[in-house]
Amino acid sequence: MVKIAPSILASDFANFGAEIEAVEAQGADWIHVDVMDGHFVPNITFGPETCAAIRPHVKTLMDVHLMIAPVDPYIEAFAKAGADIITAHVEAGPHIHRTLQAIRAAGCRAGVALNPGTPAEAVRPVLDLVDLVCVMTVNPGFGGQSFIESCLPKISQLREWGGPGLHIEIDGGVGPKTAKPCVDAGADVLVAGSAVFKGGSVSNPSPYGENIRAIRTAIDT
Ligand code: DX5
Ligand code: ZN
Repeated sequence: MVKIAPSILASDFANFGAEIEAVEAQGADWIHVDVMDGHFVPNITFGPETCAAIRPHVKTLMDVHLMIAPVDPYIEAFAKAGADIITAHVEAGPHIHRTLQAIRAAGCRAGVALNPGTPAEAVRPVLDLVDLVCVMTVNPGFGGQSFIESCLPKISQLREWGGPGLHIEIDGGVGPKTAKPCVDAGADVLVAGSAVFKGGSVSNPSPYGENIRAIRTAIDT
């Protein structure tokens, strides 16, 4: 079963707790949390304190995507904040192997993300250290960008190398039109920000459910 992981980057920043509860009630499988530092990516969101504050509102799974460099000094803080999965970028520093070991040592599941310009080969040597590979299908930093199709061949390549147990997550520009080729190539987790939150709000959450179902329907047809 493919998991839909709404990114709260596209939700109301003044209302994370209620947004998370609303989107989970509408069928979200995981909650995707985008941490940006204004250095690794050209945007800033929030840090571990915000993750700790939203944690009690997450009933499913808190999937923390770190778009920060360096990563290692902050792993403990995100683990303490209650992250279930911590994903670090392979481009974020010279020691991804050490970073992934440290994430697991902190008690979390480990993920590695790769930017559109990074080949799948870059993460192959660390596949035995991860539970998830996040294939970015936009250049990270902002929601609402267009899906980059040339990233698709990486998905099947990673599925072949990682076997059935590896989560392959697609992040960026995922919606009803782009979800199916990702799943057909072997993805099992779809991050969707704008495609899930568009048209709804905490006081009118039913569009969240309709948007999630539209992605599911697109996958199944
Ligand atoms: C991009 C983030 C994504 C983003 C996806 O830097 O990592 O998780 O929120 O947003 P959409 O689905 O709108 O492309
Ligand atoms: Zn993300």
